[in-house]
Amino acid sequence: MPLDAAYEAGLAGHVPAKRIRFSNGVNMEGYRLNPLLSQEQIASIVQRLADQISKDYNGRELVLVCILKGAFMFLSDLVRYLKVPVKIDFVRLTSYGSGMKTSGIIEITKDIEIPIEGKDVLIIEDIIDSGRTLQFLKDRLILANPLSAKICALLDKKARREVEIEADYLGTEVDDVFIVGYGIDFNEDYRHLPEVYYVTPIDHPKQ
Ligand code: IMP
Ligand code: MG
Repeated sequence: MPLDAAYEAGLAGHVPAKRIRFSNGVNMEGYRLNPLLSQEQIASIVQRLADQISKDYNGRELVLVCILKGAFMFLSDLVRYLKVPVKIDFVRLTSYGSGMKTSGIIEITKDIEIPIEGKDVLIIEDIIDSGRTLQFLKDRLILANPLSAKICALLDKKARREVEIEADYLGTEVDDVFIVGYGIDFNEDYRHLPEVYYVTPIDHPKQ
C-alpha cells in the first residue's frame, strides 16, 4: 500500500515506508515508519517551549532564524504560541552528501536578510545530531554582533554529538534513530506528516 493511502487510513505506523532509494542505491522498501510523537505530544512540547521563551524574552524583541527546510513546521507552530514580538528570517545550509548522515562540511546557500546587530537571536532547528550544523550557524551569526544568540531545537540525538553545542530550549531527547515527519525529511519525502516517526527495517526487533 502506498504510504499516502495508508496514512489516510490511519495506518502509517504499520506499513512499509514508501519505496524510495537511498543515495547509495539501497532500496527504501523494507523499512517502516514507527510513530514517535503524536500531534498532541508535539503541541504540548511546542506550547511548553513557547511559554519558556516568552517568559525569558519578556519585554524584548526576538529575531527567529529558522533553518530550512526541516524546521519550517516547528517554526510556524511555535510563533503562534509566542507572546513576545518576533521578526522571522530563514537560512538554508547544505552539508555535503544526502541520505542518513551529514558530512561535516557545511555551506550556507541562503543567508539571513534581517540585520541582527544588537538583536536577540534565537535559532530554530529541527534536530541536533553531530551538532556541526548549529555550531557552524551560531559561529557565523555571532560575527554580526547580535546581543545574544541562542538555540531552540525540537529534537536532540545527544548520543551522536561530535562537537560541544547544546540547545538552550529543547523539545525532547531522542535515541539514535532516523526521524521523519513534522517537517523532517528523508531525501525530501515525509515532511508533510503531522506526526514524528522513526524509520526501522521491517524485521527490526522493536516491531
Ligand atoms: P548535525 O549537523 O549533524 O547536527 O545534523 C543536523 C541536521 O541533520 C538536521 O538539521 C537535519 O536536517 C539532519 N538530520 C539529523 N538527523 C536526522 C534525522 O533523523 N532525520 C532527518 N534529518 C536528520
Ligand atoms: Mg536541517
